[in-house]
Amino acid sequence: MAAVDTTQIFKTDIFNGKILLCSGGGSGICRGMTEAMVRHGAKAVIISRNFEKLQKAAEEMSKATNGEVFPIQADVRKPEDLEKAVAKTIEKYGHIDFLINGAAGNFLAPFDSLSYNAFRTVIEIDLLGSYNLTKAALQHLRASNGAIINVSATLHYTGTIFQQHAGAAKAGIDALTKHWAVELGPSGVRVNGIAPGPIASTEGLSRLAGDMLDPEQIPIQRVGEVQDIAQTTVFLFSQGASYITGQTIVVDGGHYLQTSSPAYPQSVLAGVPDSKL
Ligand code: COA
Ligand code: NAP
Repeated sequence: MAAVDTTQIFKTDIFNGKILLCSGGGSGICRGMTEAMVRHGAKAVIISRNFEKLQKAAEEMSKATNGEVFPIQADVRKPEDLEKAVAKTIEKYGHIDFLINGAAGNFLAPFDSLSYNAFRTVIEIDLLGSYNLTKAALQHLRASNGAIINVSATLHYTGTIFQQHAGAAKAGIDALTKHWAVELGPSGVRVNGIAPGPIASTEGLSRLAGDMLDPEQIPIQRVGEVQDIAQTTVFLFSQGASYITGQTIVVDGGHYLQTSSPAYPQSVLAGVPDSKL
């Protein structure tokens, strides 16, 4: 994975002494979010099912950042795994300041080929998994006046074909972001979401779009990078965002707004001056 580095934009020491717990931090977007946080002084615990993959990612990130990333195997569908992961994190580091709920599963599936179990599986990983990990870590986030980022998507803003399972899960996650912001704000915990658009070189993009995404379909005229999500992560966890809670920030170069624009027929466009952008 390409290196993620936000130290040209934010000060390098802003998360010194802070501990991040991140589900899904062994690959893709959440690995980039983790790496960025560690470059700014945080220590990180990453959790997912595949320990070998996690361990390799932790070693690579620790080396690249000269920081500390620690892997713990856990399935976010199993609260007992998460209770153990949180206990191990506390035993090792003493506190948890930041939580990223990023673990997710997805695939394209038309309604007729989406089984009962397939729908349930995605809801269990994305939505219940986010609830489970937050529940397990909550007392520690309260104790540190911590902050949470839930990783969402834009699928449900428009109703994306073959994506009802992931869209429903992410819509639920967006709801949790708001409910938690209101309920946990008084005890000092901020809760926000990041909704990435299509992000280059990720499992999610290859599953949903292959390599077929045309940058010209995106108003900013390029496909998103993990770095774009990392920058937003550092901002949302920083003091710069201390008055922001309950918001899901779309980081997609305008992609979902563009896809929800009407496709005007040529016959109509022919009568519109300068209609070719
Ligand atoms: N299309 C339709 N159904 C699918 C599917 C696909 N491409 N892939 C899996 N399923 C179904 C399975 O057939 C099964 O349903 P069934 O019991 O009725 O046959 C159900 O989903 C669960 O599959 P299983 O492989 O047992 O689940 P798992 O817990 O081992 O894995 C997944 C979870 C399916 C989400 C798997 O793709 C995964 O681990 N993904 C993680 C990585 C990822 O998706 N990254 C992108 C994030 S955006
Ligand atoms: P990814 O690399 O596949 O990340 C998903 C991670 O979740 C993996 O590290 C996986 O690790 C972990 N995971 C899956 N099931 C788990 C479970 N049951 N318990 C614990 N961990 C589990 O995919 P990505 O594309 O970077 O996606 C990261 C996040 O961004 C997801 O929330 C996704 O929905 C969101 N997103 C991505 C895009 C995109 O373009 N890629 C767009 C919008 C939103 P293991 O296999 O080791 O468990």
